[in-house]
Amino acid sequence: MSNYHIKHLEEYYQVYRKSVRNPESFWEEIAEEHFLWRKKWDNVLSWDFKKPEVKWFEGAKLNITENCIDRHLATRGDKTAILFEPNDPNEGAEHITYKQLYHRVNQFANVLKEQGVKKGDRVCIYVPMIPELAISVLACARIGAIHSVVFAGFSSTALSTRINDSDCKLVITADGSYRGSKTIDLKGIVDEALESCNGVETVLVAKRINSNISMKEGRDTWLQPLLDEASNQCKAEIMDAEDPLFILYTSGSTGKPKGMVHTTAGYMVYTAYTFKNAFQYKENDLYWCTADIGWITGHSYIVYGPLANGATTVLFEGVPSYPDFGRFWDIVDKHKVNQFYTAPTAIRALAKQGVELVEKYDLSSLKVLGSVGEPINEEAWHWYNDNVGKNKSPIIDSWWQTETGGIMITPIPYVTPTKPTYATLPFIGIQPCLMDENGVELKGNQVDGRLCIKFPWPSIARTIWGNHQRYKDTYFSTYENMYFTGDGALRDEVGYYRITGRVDDVIIVSGHNLGTAPIEDAINEHPAVAESAIVGFPHDVKGSALYGYITLKDVGESRNHDNLRKEINQLISDRIGPISKLEKIQFTQGLPKTRSGKIMRRILRKIAEKDTSNLGDTSTLLNPECVQDIMDNVL
Ligand code: WTA
Repeated sequence: MSNYHIKHLEEYYQVYRKSVRNPESFWEEIAEEHFLWRKKWDNVLSWDFKKPEVKWFEGAKLNITENCIDRHLATRGDKTAILFEPNDPNEGAEHITYKQLYHRVNQFANVLKEQGVKKGDRVCIYVPMIPELAISVLACARIGAIHSVVFAGFSSTALSTRINDSDCKLVITADGSYRGSKTIDLKGIVDEALESCNGVETVLVAKRINSNISMKEGRDTWLQPLLDEASNQCKAEIMDAEDPLFILYTSGSTGKPKGMVHTTAGYMVYTAYTFKNAFQYKENDLYWCTADIGWITGHSYIVYGPLANGATTVLFEGVPSYPDFGRFWDIVDKHKVNQFYTAPTAIRALAKQGVELVEKYDLSSLKVLGSVGEPINEEAWHWYNDNVGKNKSPIIDSWWQTETGGIMITPIPYVTPTKPTYATLPFIGIQPCLMDENGVELKGNQVDGRLCIKFPWPSIARTIWGNHQRYKDTYFSTYENMYFTGDGALRDEVGYYRITGRVDDVIIVSGHNLGTAPIEDAINEHPAVAESAIVGFPHDVKGSALYGYITLKDVGESRNHDNLRKEINQLISDRIGPISKLEKIQFTQGLPKTRSGKIMRRILRKIAEKDTSNLGDTSTLLNPECVQDIMDNVL
C-alpha cells in the first residue's frame, strides 16, 4: 500500500529505485491494488522503441468510467465529483455528486448510442468549460468511442482540420460560450468548419448562452431533450487495455497538428497514481486545476486523475480577470480549495495586478500549489510562493507533455525540497537522461543537454493518429532507443532538473504550444506576402510572444503597414485562432538564408530578443546584407 502514497524523501528514493529496477512488478502492484479490472492482464509490459511499440497490461479488460465513477458509488455516492464554478459568480456553483455524474454520463452515453456511435468511432468535442464537456468525455469512454476534444478557442479551420484528420462522425458543441464579459458564437464556428467536413453526420448542441442560432435540418439536434428521454443506466463497454481512449492534437514544429493517441489502462494507472502523489491528495481535499479540458492538463488532471481517486474536482468556466483579477482567489476562498494547479502565464498576469486582490481573500485552505505548461521564471515563482502560498504551500513545478499523458518531473510536495525554476526530480518510474548533440549521454551532474526518456512509462502516447511513421520520426529517431522530448534541460549539482525550453520550432505562448509552420502558412496566404518567419521573444506575461518577419511581394508596397498588420493577424486568427496572433510584425527586405535556402531562425530569434552580440558568422549566408537591414529596423 505504501507505494501508492509517498510521504517522505527517503521513501521517495526507495520507491523510485524499486520502480526503475523492476518496473513491471512495480506497476503491476499499483495496478492490482487500486483499480477495478474486468479481467487482469496476461503481460505487464512489452516494448520496443525501435518500432516503436509500447503495450502495458496487455490482455486486461476494463472500462475507465467504472474506475472513475461506478466504484465510488457505494462509498462516495453523495460526495461532489465535479464542482462547477460558472463564468458569472452570481450564477452560483453547481455540485454534481458521484451519483448524479453516474446518471448524467449514462444518459449521455445512451444518446450517443442512439445516434449510432459505436466502439472505436471518433467523436469530436468542441464544448466550453461547462459540465457537459467533462460528461461528454466520460460518455464516450463509457461506450468505447474515442474522444477528440478540440479546445473551444480554436478557429473553424483548426477545428475542421482536426475533425477530418480523425474522421469524426459526430460533433458535440454548444450554442455559445461565456468568456468574461463576452460571448462567443461557438455554433457559428462549427457551422463554418463543417462546410469542409463531409464525414460529420450529427451535431449535438448543448444550450449555454441561449443565443439565436441556426440548426441544420437532419444534422443538428439540441442535446437536452435527448438527454431527458434517455435512460440513466448504460452498461460500460468492456475495453482492452490497449484500446484507444482518446486523441488529442498538439502542435508540431512542421506540418499539420499531431493527433496523439492515448490508450486505456496505462493512462488510467499513471494519471491516477501521479494525481495522488504529485498533489499529495487526501480524501476530502478540494482540488482545482484551472486548465481547460481542451488541453492534456485538463484531460489528465481535471477529469481522469482526480475522478479515479474519488476526488472533488473544480471545473471553472471563466477567466482569471472576470469580474476582476481577484477571481481565482475568490474561488479558492469560497470553496476552500486545497490544491491549486495553474500556469505561469496566469501567475504573471495576476502578479501585475498588485497584491491587494490576493490579500482580500482567505487563502489559508491551500496546501499545494502547482505550475505547468512552460518554464516558470524566478520572479513569478517567488510571487506565487510569497503571496499565494504564504511561504507554507510548496510549489510543484511539474514538467510533462501531451505526449507523456501525465506528470514526469516534479517535486512531490512536503517530500522534495523545492528550488525556484526547477522541476526537480523524476517522478516514480520515470528515467530521464540528457543527451548531447552527437547522441552521447551526458552522465553525472552539472550538465546541460537534450531531455530524453530511456524507458516506457504507462501513459506514453502510443502513436500519432493515422501516421505512425511521423510518431517514430518525431520522438524515436533523434536518439537511438530513447523517447526525445523536444525540450532542453540541465541537471544541477544535486541531480535536480531544470527545463530550459524547446529545442525545436515550437514556441510556447501563454502555455500554448504553437508550431511555427502553420502560422507561417496562414500569413503566406495573404496576397501581399512573399514569405515569412516566426520566432519567439521574451514577454513578461505570456512567457514568449510571437515576432513575425515578413517580406512583401512588392517591396515598395505603398499600403499602410498598420492595416496590413491587422489583416495578417486577422488571417491568423481565422485560420488558427487568436492565441497565435503576432505581437510584433516587422516588414523586411529579405530573410537570412543558408545556401541551401533554409531560413536562419537562430539569427532572427537573436535579433528579436535584442541580443545581437553573438550572431555568429553571417558571411556564409546566401544574402548576408539583409541581416543589417533587419537589425536596423527591429521593433
Ligand atoms: C513545456 C503540457 C518548463 C515543455 C502539460 C513541454 C514546461 C511542453 C513545463 C508541453 C514546466 C510543460 N517547465 N516547461 N513545468 N511543463 N512545459 O503538450 O516545453 O501542452 O515540452 O503539455 O510545455 O506542452 P503540452
